[in-house]
Amino acid sequence: MIDNSNDNQQSPCVLLFGGTGWIGNKMIDLMKEKSIKYYVSTNRLENRSEIIEEIKRVNPTSILNCAGITGRPNIDWCEDHKVETIRSNIIGTLNLLDIANQCNVHVCNLATGCIYQYDDKHPINSGIGFKEEEAYNYFGSFYSTAKQTVEQLSKNYPNTLTLRLRMPISDSVQEPRNFITKIKNYERVVNVPNSMSVLYDLLPVMLDMCCKQTVGVFNFVNPGVISHNEILDLYKLHIDPSFQYQNFSVEEQDRILKAGRSNNHLDTSKLESLYPNIPHIQTSIQDVFKRMKRNTSTPTTTN
Ligand SMILES: NC(=O)c1ccc[n+]([C@@H]2O[C@H](COP(=O)([O-])OP(=O)(O)OC[C@H]3O[C@@H](n4cnc5c(N)ncnc54)[C@H](OP(=O)(O)O)[C@@H]3O)[C@@H](O)[C@H]2O)c1
Repeated sequence: MIDNSNDNQQSPCVLLFGGTGWIGNKMIDLMKEKSIKYYVSTNRLENRSEIIEEIKRVNPTSILNCAGITGRPNIDWCEDHKVETIRSNIIGTLNLLDIANQCNVHVCNLATGCIYQYDDKHPINSGIGFKEEEAYNYFGSFYSTAKQTVEQLSKNYPNTLTLRLRMPISDSVQEPRNFITKIKNYERVVNVPNSMSVLYDLLPVMLDMCCKQTVGVFNFVNPGVISHNEILDLYKLHIDPSFQYQNFSVEEQDRILKAGRSNNHLDTSKLESLYPNIPHIQTSIQDVFKRMKRNTSTPTTTN
């Protein structure tokens, strides 16, 4: 065990990995806004000795791991780049979690909620969501199974917080990672209710959990579910009245994708027991579009 001389009296100091990424970048903005001390690591997750040196130097109260391969343009990339995905998302991430444990530092790791799919015990539109401790039942993509491998093993590290995000939504239609931007640009889109993470609501919670050194696994989505069509109808209403979209079935979608995509409802009672004010997705999405409208000077053209 390396003595990092951390104690809970120290004011929060976050060592961030993945600062050049979509979510990592937003966390930097948030930490600036909230005047939280932070350092952005330039180390690769796999580089053990450099990371240990960095922790000794920075003496963080929490490590926030927003680094990982997500694939470009999407997770289909991971199907053809399994070795690279293993190196970053399994070996690299476990390396970081192990170092954090060895150095006795809290670590928050971004995981995915795309590890379940609706089944007989959790039927679509039943209101029954998957709880954190339930066994995974979705194995349709290499990206998801790699994330499951890490999550399963990370439960052995008592200093780890695992946040399962899904279909993250931001306030800017200019951001290609925003779930709204993704689906509005698809030629055809499925229509299934899903749990989703509104970043405006959840990133401050992520930061608070790091500052409080919360541990455990959390479904990190807004309460409730929303469908693709509900989102696109709101996009049309608030942002671009000329927008049109076309649906297709999940089976038709599967035929054009390399990797599968999960559809599920995650139970949020554990998260809500700590943060009861996270808005329901149906309320939150209305506010997303109001902010998006304020941020959008000219309507976006449709495909
Ligand atoms: N966006 C989503 O839809 C979504 C959904 C659920 C969960 N998540 C998870 O949330 C995390 C952040 O996602 P994001 O959308 O912000 O991803 P992103 O925009 O693709 O950014 C990924 C970041 O990770 C860095 N990175 C990748 N491999 C690395 C390695 N081996 N060592 C150090 N840095 C590495 C990248 O830097 P380089 O470019 O220098 O490699 C980049 O800064 C990921 O773990 C992702 O799986 C994302």
